[in-house]
Amino acid sequence: MAHSTITSSSLDQNEDPNCAGQQQPYSTITSSSSSLDQQKNDDPGCAGQHPPVSPISLDKGDPMIFEEYWERMGDKCDLRIGGGDLMSYLSNPGGVCWFLLPQLEESIRRIHSLVGNAATQGRYIVVGTGSSQLVQTVLYALSSDSPHPLSVVCAPPYYSCYPELAGILKSELYKWEGDAHTFNKDGPFLELVTSPNNPDGSIRGPVVRPRAGGHVMYDLAYYWPQFTPITHQADHDIMIFTFSKSVGHAGSRIGWAIVKNKEIAIKMVKLIEVLSIGVSKEAQLRATKILGAICDGYEGSLAMPESDKFFDYFRRIMAERWNKLREVVKKNQVFSLPEYQQEQCLFSEGLAGTHPGFAWLKCEKGESKDDAEGFLKGYGIQARGGHKFGVDGSFVRVSMMSRENTFKAFLERLSAIEAGRDSTYKMDVA
Ligand SMILES: Cc1ncc(COP(=O)(O)O)c(C=O)c1O
Repeated sequence: MAHSTITSSSLDQNEDPNCAGQQQPYSTITSSSSSLDQQKNDDPGCAGQHPPVSPISLDKGDPMIFEEYWERMGDKCDLRIGGGDLMSYLSNPGGVCWFLLPQLEESIRRIHSLVGNAATQGRYIVVGTGSSQLVQTVLYALSSDSPHPLSVVCAPPYYSCYPELAGILKSELYKWEGDAHTFNKDGPFLELVTSPNNPDGSIRGPVVRPRAGGHVMYDLAYYWPQFTPITHQADHDIMIFTFSKSVGHAGSRIGWAIVKNKEIAIKMVKLIEVLSIGVSKEAQLRATKILGAICDGYEGSLAMPESDKFFDYFRRIMAERWNKLREVVKKNQVFSLPEYQQEQCLFSEGLAGTHPGFAWLKCEKGESKDDAEGFLKGYGIQARGGHKFGVDGSFVRVSMMSRENTFKAFLERLSAIEAGRDSTYKMDVA
């Protein structure tokens, strides 16, 4: 029987789209009919008699779930950019963030006011090339004038790109120090708090005791109604958001920070000024259009029927996916999933559930218990193992934000795993 031939190099890649490793070593499933037909033929009991399955890539958080919605919007979000448009470096001369288009700033404030997830009044908005760039700017802003390096910490399981974001430049200004729970150094520090957390969807707060020279940056990439109830209006010193996970347009590379302190905002802007003299205006314009279309769907004469409104639509889709996943996980009894409480949501004015962008699976049984990533790989599912998030290999993160046909293929493959079956069994993976 042929087994997986996935090489270690594919495992070693840092797979987040924002963290290099762009090259896909294997084809992903792109056509629903071919992938599903292929799946139907993949009776695990007869592996070897059928064509091998292509691995499906669920290790990255590429938010393609949103694609069909935006395609259905037709020309509503089309942009026309003339040859002479958007040519200047400057967008808002005199503003703290001089390269932020005023209309994007307005759309950002508008969507936070609609959703109620973050305070923006009297705060500075800094736009970045994705929120990944903004993390770098925060590191710089908090460390550039300090005589001592800034220790950067986060409680595991943490977003797998943080260690690299804080370490890649081997800067003398700041240093990745890992686990916030065991951090006990003197000197300035920055705790990164992701809430809801990537990878496990938990709601989090800082764990390091506050002291002089201590800072917290809130990464609120997933604090949107499709993923979690909006329980309060976040109002922290430094909050970052991303266009990628809020609405799905990861390719536009837009993120924004909401910052209370003017000096910090100015330093963040300074780094972007030095690195790239601003942020693409084309991308900013697209973000303005998309954020505006979502708000228009809720407000005024362009309001949509309830079920088509962006956040309501995706809250439903995410809930459906999670229900299906939980059914399969319950049936095969190999993995467990975190449980989430329903909470009162300010946005929808009722109880709402948590449906994270990633499933954080824990392998509970079998010989492969300590290598959940390798185990899933044997079934043609590429996911990201616990070690990359600062925890052990019994955990694995699987994206819940893929296109529908990929998600279906994932469930089918997961269904083929049964407790008690020889755990060395693998699907025939191309
Ligand atoms: C918690 C978290 N922060 C930041 C990012 C980076 O987002 P962006 O695409 O805006 O760089 C991601 C992307 O996966 C993320 O999960």
